[in-house]
Amino acid sequence: MAKVLWHVTMSLDGFIAGPGDSMDWAFVHSAPNPTVDEVIQTTGAVLVGRRSLEVGKQATRLETGKPYGGAWKGPEFVLTHRPPEQHPDREVTFLSGDIRRAISTVLQAADGKNVVVIGAHVAQQCIDEGLIDELLVHVAPILLGDGIRLFGRPGALPIDLEATEVSRAGAITNLRFRVLPQQRGDKADAT
Ligand SMILES: NC(=O)c1ccc[n+]([C@@H]2O[C@H](COP(=O)([O-])OP(=O)(O)OC[C@H]3O[C@@H](n4cnc5c(N)ncnc54)[C@H](OP(=O)(O)O)[C@@H]3O)[C@@H](O)[C@H]2O)c1
Repeated sequence: MAKVLWHVTMSLDGFIAGPGDSMDWAFVHSAPNPTVDEVIQTTGAVLVGRRSLEVGKQATRLETGKPYGGAWKGPEFVLTHRPPEQHPDREVTFLSGDIRRAISTVLQAADGKNVVVIGAHVAQQCIDEGLIDELLVHVAPILLGDGIRLFGRPGALPIDLEATEVSRAGAITNLRFRVLPQQRGDKADAT
């Protein structure tokens, strides 16, 4: 059955981007990583937050603005409240509104393969709605001290996880977790 995976690189102190959305630290350790290769092969569609798309496309950055640096090809959906009237990249479809409907749309496009979610704000909403099956975190050996947290939800209930993979690829530690059933909603209800 197709899974919804939140795939992210994180500093050891829990940031997915440093101050000013800095991400260069995440690209320093670019050893081959079989865990990433497996994700690329099993992913049918991606859902990206509008900020992740925009920030990643900035010319001064090491990212390409394409998921997996262009190593993955397929339907890419961008969540935004303000979809542009025209977009030059026909691979990108803009979605607005309800996160459950968005995930349902992206799962359909994935055609039986997995869906990857990119961007902390979007992923947190998916977690809140019980829409994420797995969390795959690449821990980079750095302390950033400030930036965008992997998960920030003061006062909310904890999210229970089960570790299913711990592996190394060069300096990176891969951590994979299954999101255990929570009290609210699950993907099967997404229509
Ligand atoms: N470490 C990593 O692996 C990794 C990966 C990707 C990105 N990043 C970094 O993460 C940062 C971006 O993440 P982020 O959490 O700030 O933002 P994000 O999740 O990428 O995007 C947030 C945006 O998505 C749109 N959005 C969210 N929920 C929506 C909804 N329900 N309906 C419609 N639109 C919705 C809104 O766009 P509008 O304002 O257009 O409405 C919102 O501003 C950047 O610094 C990027 O470099 C890190």
